[in-house]
Amino acid sequence: MSYRFSVGNGGSLASSLNLFRRVTNSLKLSATLHKIRQLFHFAPWRSAPIYAIQKLRPPLDSLDKSRESVLGDIDAELIAEEIRQDSVAILGQLPADFVSRLRKITDQLPPEEYQLVHQVNDDVRHLTQDPGIKKVLRAYLKSEPVLLEASLFVSRSGQSPREHKQNSFHFDYAGWASLNLFVYLTDVDEESSYHIVAKGSHRDIKIADVLKGSISLAEADTRFGGAIKNITGPAGTVFFENTEAFHRRHFGSGRRVMLNLLFSSHRSLLSRGRASRKKIARRDREFQKLDAL
Ligand SMILES: [Fe+2]
Repeated sequence: MSYRFSVGNGGSLASSLNLFRRVTNSLKLSATLHKIRQLFHFAPWRSAPIYAIQKLRPPLDSLDKSRESVLGDIDAELIAEEIRQDSVAILGQLPADFVSRLRKITDQLPPEEYQLVHQVNDDVRHLTQDPGIKKVLRAYLKSEPVLLEASLFVSRSGQSPREHKQNSFHFDYAGWASLNLFVYLTDVDEESSYHIVAKGSHRDIKIADVLKGSISLAEADTRFGGAIKNITGPAGTVFFENTEAFHRRHFGSGRRVMLNLLFSSHRSLLSRGRASRKKIARRDREFQKLDAL
């Protein structure tokens, strides 16, 4: 009996170890594949697919001529040029009525990342289709933009017990060319978890950066120094940022809500975004609760 027990235990230990090894190996494999994909993405030949997409999917400017934008009268070419130079362009604030309507919902959401929120909120959906925003995207990408993600990040009011990957300088990418539109939906000051970007850094991604994935604050300081910009501002502050710029979230306190719309020059098999069934179900539950109020 005791023999059988010990064999059974050993067997289950062995199978657990096996499972652990398989998981570790598959994680290593997926990390390696991720690095290979990144190296391919940031290689010098990238200008060829970017150019091809611009030819295959030219901007459809004529579609939006008659509608007004929440951004008011803007010079899209000038903003696009600013993003090319600085990685970021802060546009100011969205109209107060738009912000307060959206905040009636977002002020009540518990801390979480809510994905594809344009599917459950009309204001966010309108923002994703806004002619002024599209104009900037078209001027920058020189192709017809595609929305890949529309996420609301609601952080806790107290300081998070540990630092997050978002607290160290890193870059993201989506498709061959992409832009984020960020909107603060709470007032964000020096105490808050404000967004930080290294201006112009999307033009300075090195192979070592791709292999490391993130860089230390000291390295960022040496490389980018005065180009590092803390972005604070009242609720409604809106800014565009190149997805590939080095950025991070300040390790601050206070509840912060930020909308992140991610647009790309195209959609590919690899542009799945981060939406998960579990998170979408959670999003639906929370938004339904608020609709019922
Ligand atoms: Fe990021």
